[in-house]
Amino acid sequence: MQARRRWAVLLTALFFGVAHGKHEQCLACHGPDGNSLTARIPSIAAQPRLFMENQLVLIREGLRPSPEMFPFVKDLTDAEIVALAKQISALPAKPTQSSPEDPALLKRGAELGRKLRCRSCHLPDYGGQNQIPRLAAQREDWLEPVMQEFRDKPRPGGDTLMAAVLYGVSDADIRALAHFLSRSSAPAPGR
Ligand code: HEC
Ligand code: HEC
Repeated sequence: MQARRRWAVLLTALFFGVAHGKHEQCLACHGPDGNSLTARIPSIAAQPRLFMENQLVLIREGLRPSPEMFPFVKDLTDAEIVALAKQISALPAKPTQSSPEDPALLKRGAELGRKLRCRSCHLPDYGGQNQIPRLAAQREDWLEPVMQEFRDKPRPGGDTLMAAVLYGVSDADIRALAHFLSRSSAPAPGR
Protein backbone atom coordinates (compact mmCIF):
# COMPACT_ATOMS: atom_id res chain seq x y z
CA MET A 1 0.00 0.00 0.00
CA GLN A 2 2.75 2.37 1.12
CA ALA A 3 4.87 1.59 -1.95
CA ARG A 4 1.87 1.92 -4.24
CA ARG A 5 1.05 5.32 -2.88
CA ARG A 6 4.66 6.41 -3.37
CA TRP A 7 4.45 5.33 -7.00
CA ALA A 8 1.22 7.20 -7.48
CA VAL A 9 2.78 10.38 -6.07
CA LEU A 10 5.87 9.97 -8.24
CA LEU A 11 3.86 9.36 -11.40
CA THR A 12 1.61 12.33 -10.69
CA ALA A 13 4.65 14.56 -10.15
CA LEU A 14 6.22 13.30 -13.35
CA PHE A 15 3.03 13.85 -15.33
CA PHE A 16 2.55 17.39 -14.08
CA GLY A 17 6.25 18.05 -14.55
CA VAL A 18 5.96 17.17 -18.22
CA ALA A 19 2.74 19.09 -18.72
CA HIS A 20 4.19 22.02 -16.81
CA GLY A 21 7.27 22.15 -19.00
CA LYS A 22 5.10 22.31 -22.11
CA HIS A 23 2.88 24.96 -20.60
CA GLU A 24 6.01 27.12 -20.08
CA GLN A 25 6.91 26.59 -23.73
CA CYS A 26 3.45 27.73 -24.78
CA LEU A 27 3.75 30.95 -22.82
CA ALA A 28 6.97 31.87 -24.61
CA CYS A 29 4.72 32.79 -27.55
CA HIS A 30 1.32 33.39 -25.92
CA GLY A 31 2.65 35.80 -23.25
CA PRO A 32 4.16 35.05 -19.81
CA ASP A 33 0.69 34.77 -18.21
CA GLY A 34 -1.25 33.65 -21.29
CA ASN A 35 -2.02 37.24 -22.35
CA SER A 36 -0.20 37.73 -25.62
CA LEU A 37 2.25 40.59 -26.03
CA THR A 38 2.86 39.77 -29.69
CA ALA A 39 0.94 40.96 -32.73
CA ARG A 40 -1.15 38.24 -34.38
CA ILE A 41 -0.61 35.70 -31.59
CA PRO A 42 -3.86 35.19 -29.66
CA SER A 43 -4.16 35.40 -25.88
CA ILE A 44 -5.13 32.03 -24.43
CA ALA A 45 -5.60 32.84 -20.71
CA ALA A 46 -9.19 32.24 -19.56
CA GLN A 47 -10.21 30.56 -22.80
CA PRO A 48 -12.89 27.87 -22.20
CA ARG A 49 -11.26 24.48 -21.70
CA LEU A 50 -13.26 22.71 -24.37
CA PHE A 51 -12.42 25.38 -26.95
CA MET A 52 -8.70 24.91 -26.28
CA GLU A 53 -8.91 21.11 -26.26
CA ASN A 54 -10.72 21.17 -29.62
CA GLN A 55 -8.31 23.61 -31.24
CA LEU A 56 -5.23 21.76 -29.99
CA VAL A 57 -6.54 18.47 -31.36
CA LEU A 58 -7.42 20.13 -34.71
CA ILE A 59 -3.91 21.62 -34.90
CA ARG A 60 -2.25 18.33 -33.89
CA GLU A 61 -4.21 16.45 -36.57
CA GLY A 62 -3.31 19.07 -39.20
CA LEU A 63 -6.98 20.04 -39.62
CA ARG A 64 -6.30 23.60 -38.49
CA PRO A 65 -3.07 24.47 -40.29
CA SER A 66 -0.69 26.39 -38.02
CA PRO A 67 2.98 26.15 -38.93
CA GLU A 68 3.94 28.04 -35.73
CA MET A 69 1.99 25.81 -33.36
CA PHE A 70 2.32 22.42 -35.01
CA PRO A 71 5.83 21.52 -33.74
CA PHE A 72 4.67 22.13 -30.17
CA VAL A 73 1.48 20.07 -30.32
CA LYS A 74 2.29 17.27 -32.76
CA ASP A 75 3.47 14.87 -30.04
CA LEU A 76 1.01 15.81 -27.29
CA THR A 77 -1.22 13.01 -26.01
CA ASP A 78 -4.93 13.61 -25.38
CA ALA A 79 -4.23 13.56 -21.64
CA GLU A 80 -1.54 16.23 -22.00
CA ILE A 81 -3.90 18.39 -24.04
CA VAL A 82 -6.59 18.08 -21.36
CA ALA A 83 -4.07 19.03 -18.64
CA LEU A 84 -2.74 22.01 -20.61
CA ALA A 85 -6.24 23.32 -21.37
CA LYS A 86 -7.14 23.05 -17.68
CA GLN A 87 -4.05 24.97 -16.52
CA ILE A 88 -4.31 27.69 -19.14
CA SER A 89 -8.08 28.24 -18.79
CA ALA A 90 -7.49 29.04 -15.10
CA LEU A 91 -5.12 31.96 -15.90
CA PRO A 92 -6.81 35.38 -15.61
CA ALA A 93 -7.40 37.35 -18.83
CA LYS A 94 -5.99 40.85 -19.08
CA PRO A 95 -6.90 43.52 -21.60
CA THR A 96 -4.54 43.84 -24.53
CA GLN A 97 -4.93 46.98 -26.59
CA SER A 98 -3.22 47.29 -29.90
CA SER A 99 -4.51 50.58 -31.38
CA PRO A 100 -5.64 53.99 -30.08
CA GLU A 101 -9.26 54.01 -28.91
CA ASP A 102 -11.84 55.30 -31.40
CA PRO A 103 -15.24 56.05 -29.76
CA ALA A 104 -17.21 55.87 -33.04
CA LEU A 105 -15.70 52.49 -33.88
CA LEU A 106 -16.42 51.21 -30.36
CA LYS A 107 -20.07 52.20 -30.61
CA ARG A 108 -20.44 50.65 -34.07
CA GLY A 109 -18.80 47.42 -32.88
CA ALA A 110 -21.12 47.12 -29.88
CA GLU A 111 -24.18 47.64 -32.11
CA LEU A 112 -22.99 45.07 -34.64
CA GLY A 113 -22.36 42.50 -31.91
CA ARG A 114 -26.00 42.82 -30.86
CA LYS A 115 -27.42 43.03 -34.36
CA LEU A 116 -25.47 40.04 -35.69
CA ARG A 117 -26.32 38.00 -32.58
CA CYS A 118 -22.70 37.20 -31.75
CA ARG A 119 -23.72 37.05 -28.11
CA SER A 120 -26.09 34.13 -28.62
CA CYS A 121 -23.02 31.88 -28.89
CA HIS A 122 -20.12 33.88 -27.41
CA LEU A 123 -22.36 34.97 -24.44
CA PRO A 124 -23.43 38.53 -23.54
CA ASP A 125 -20.04 39.31 -21.93
CA TYR A 126 -18.22 37.71 -24.90
CA GLY A 127 -16.50 35.39 -22.45
CA GLY A 128 -17.15 32.26 -24.53
CA GLN A 129 -18.44 28.89 -23.38
CA ASN A 130 -17.72 25.24 -24.13
CA GLN A 131 -16.31 25.02 -27.69
CA ILE A 132 -16.86 28.76 -28.29
CA PRO A 133 -13.93 31.10 -27.62
CA ARG A 134 -13.67 34.17 -25.43
CA LEU A 135 -13.48 37.31 -27.56
CA ALA A 136 -13.55 39.94 -24.80
CA ALA A 137 -10.11 41.48 -24.20
CA GLN A 138 -8.59 39.43 -27.03
CA ARG A 139 -5.95 41.17 -29.16
CA GLU A 140 -7.48 43.39 -31.84
CA ASP A 141 -4.73 42.47 -34.32
CA TRP A 142 -5.72 38.81 -33.92
CA LEU A 143 -9.51 39.24 -34.04
CA GLU A 144 -9.56 41.30 -37.23
CA PRO A 145 -7.58 38.97 -39.54
CA VAL A 146 -9.15 35.82 -38.07
CA MET A 147 -12.66 37.15 -38.85
CA GLN A 148 -11.60 38.11 -42.38
CA GLU A 149 -10.27 34.61 -42.80
CA PHE A 150 -13.48 32.98 -41.56
CA ARG A 151 -15.41 35.11 -44.06
CA ASP A 152 -13.09 34.71 -47.06
CA LYS A 153 -11.44 31.30 -46.71
CA PRO A 154 -12.92 29.20 -43.90
CA ARG A 155 -10.51 26.75 -42.22
CA PRO A 156 -10.70 23.32 -43.81
CA GLY A 157 -11.25 21.51 -40.49
CA GLY A 158 -13.21 24.28 -38.84
CA ASP A 159 -16.80 24.79 -38.02
CA THR A 160 -18.81 26.51 -40.78
CA LEU A 161 -20.76 28.54 -38.22
CA MET A 162 -18.46 31.54 -38.25
CA ALA A 163 -18.28 31.70 -42.05
CA ALA A 164 -22.09 31.82 -42.13
CA VAL A 165 -22.29 34.49 -39.43
CA LEU A 166 -19.75 36.77 -41.14
CA TYR A 167 -21.04 36.24 -44.68
CA GLY A 168 -21.41 39.66 -46.35
CA VAL A 169 -20.04 41.61 -43.34
CA SER A 170 -17.79 44.43 -44.65
CA ASP A 171 -14.12 44.93 -43.76
CA ALA A 172 -15.08 48.17 -41.99
CA ASP A 173 -17.63 46.34 -39.83
CA ILE A 174 -15.12 43.58 -39.01
CA ARG A 175 -12.71 46.30 -37.91
CA ALA A 176 -15.36 47.84 -35.66
CA LEU A 177 -16.17 44.45 -34.12
CA ALA A 178 -12.48 43.72 -33.44
CA HIS A 179 -11.98 47.19 -31.94
CA PHE A 180 -14.98 46.82 -29.64
CA LEU A 181 -14.32 43.21 -28.58
CA SER A 182 -10.66 43.83 -27.74
CA ARG A 183 -11.84 46.55 -25.35
CA SER A 184 -14.65 44.58 -23.67
CA SER A 185 -13.83 43.71 -20.06
CA ALA A 186 -11.91 40.52 -19.50
CA PRO A 187 -14.23 37.77 -18.21
CA ALA A 188 -13.40 35.56 -15.22
CA PRO A 189 -11.17 32.52 -15.87
CA GLY A 190 -11.90 28.85 -15.27
CA ARG A 191 -14.71 28.00 -17.67
C1 HEC B 1 6.07 29.54 -31.72
C2 HEC B 1 4.97 30.24 -31.09
C3 HEC B 1 3.88 29.39 -30.43
C4 HEC B 1 4.05 28.40 -29.48
C5 HEC B 1 5.32 27.89 -28.85
C6 HEC B 1 2.69 27.98 -29.14
N1 HEC B 1 1.75 28.68 -29.86
FE1 HEC B 1 -0.25 28.50 -29.73
N2 HEC B 1 -0.50 29.73 -31.32
C7 HEC B 1 0.52 30.42 -31.96
C8 HEC B 1 -0.04 31.12 -33.11
C9 HEC B 1 0.73 32.00 -34.09
C10 HEC B 1 -1.44 30.83 -33.13
C11 HEC B 1 -2.45 31.26 -34.18
C12 HEC B 1 -2.52 30.16 -35.20
C13 HEC B 1 -3.41 30.47 -36.37
O1 HEC B 1 -3.06 31.36 -37.14
O2 HEC B 1 -4.45 29.83 -36.52
C14 HEC B 1 -1.68 29.96 -31.97
C15 HEC B 1 -2.94 29.48 -31.62
C16 HEC B 1 -3.22 28.78 -30.45
C17 HEC B 1 -4.54 28.43 -29.98
C18 HEC B 1 -5.85 28.81 -30.63
C19 HEC B 1 -6.27 30.13 -30.04
C20 HEC B 1 -7.37 30.86 -30.73
O3 HEC B 1 -7.82 31.85 -30.13
O4 HEC B 1 -7.79 30.49 -31.84
C21 HEC B 1 -4.39 27.75 -28.80
C22 HEC B 1 -5.49 27.19 -27.91
C23 HEC B 1 -2.97 27.66 -28.55
N3 HEC B 1 -2.28 28.30 -29.56
C24 HEC B 1 -2.40 27.01 -27.46
C25 HEC B 1 -1.04 26.73 -27.35
C26 HEC B 1 -0.47 25.78 -26.41
C27 HEC B 1 -1.27 25.01 -25.37
C28 HEC B 1 0.87 25.73 -26.64
C29 HEC B 1 1.92 24.86 -25.98
C30 HEC B 1 1.74 23.45 -26.15
C31 HEC B 1 1.15 26.69 -27.71
N4 HEC B 1 -0.03 27.27 -28.13
C32 HEC B 1 2.42 26.99 -28.21
C33 HEC B 1 1.84 30.43 -31.59
C34 HEC B 1 2.44 29.55 -30.68
C1 HEC C 1 -23.74 29.91 -33.89
C2 HEC C 1 -22.72 30.22 -32.90
C3 HEC C 1 -21.81 31.41 -33.18
C4 HEC C 1 -22.18 32.71 -33.48
C5 HEC C 1 -23.59 33.27 -33.65
C6 HEC C 1 -20.95 33.47 -33.55
N1 HEC C 1 -19.86 32.66 -33.32
FE1 HEC C 1 -17.90 33.23 -33.38
N2 HEC C 1 -17.33 31.28 -33.07
C7 HEC C 1 -18.18 30.21 -32.88
C8 HEC C 1 -17.39 28.99 -32.74
C9 HEC C 1 -17.93 27.59 -32.53
C10 HEC C 1 -16.04 29.37 -32.86
C11 HEC C 1 -14.81 28.46 -32.82
C12 HEC C 1 -14.21 28.37 -34.17
C13 HEC C 1 -14.35 27.09 -34.89
O1 HEC C 1 -14.50 26.03 -34.26
O2 HEC C 1 -14.32 27.13 -36.15
C14 HEC C 1 -16.03 30.82 -33.06
C15 HEC C 1 -14.89 31.58 -33.25
C16 HEC C 1 -14.85 32.96 -33.37
C17 HEC C 1 -13.64 33.75 -33.48
C18 HEC C 1 -12.21 33.22 -33.46
C19 HEC C 1 -11.60 33.53 -32.14
C20 HEC C 1 -10.28 32.87 -31.88
O3 HEC C 1 -9.61 33.32 -30.95
O4 HEC C 1 -9.91 31.91 -32.55
C21 HEC C 1 -14.02 35.05 -33.60
C22 HEC C 1 -13.13 36.27 -33.72
C23 HEC C 1 -15.47 35.07 -33.56
N3 HEC C 1 -15.95 33.79 -33.42
C24 HEC C 1 -16.24 36.23 -33.63
C25 HEC C 1 -17.63 36.24 -33.73
C26 HEC C 1 -18.41 37.43 -34.00
C27 HEC C 1 -17.86 38.84 -34.11
C28 HEC C 1 -19.73 37.03 -34.09
C29 HEC C 1 -20.93 37.88 -34.49
C30 HEC C 1 -20.75 38.59 -35.76
C31 HEC C 1 -19.76 35.59 -33.86
N4 HEC C 1 -18.48 35.16 -33.65
C32 HEC C 1 -20.90 34.82 -33.85
C33 HEC C 1 -19.56 30.26 -32.82
C34 HEC C 1 -20.34 31.39 -33.10
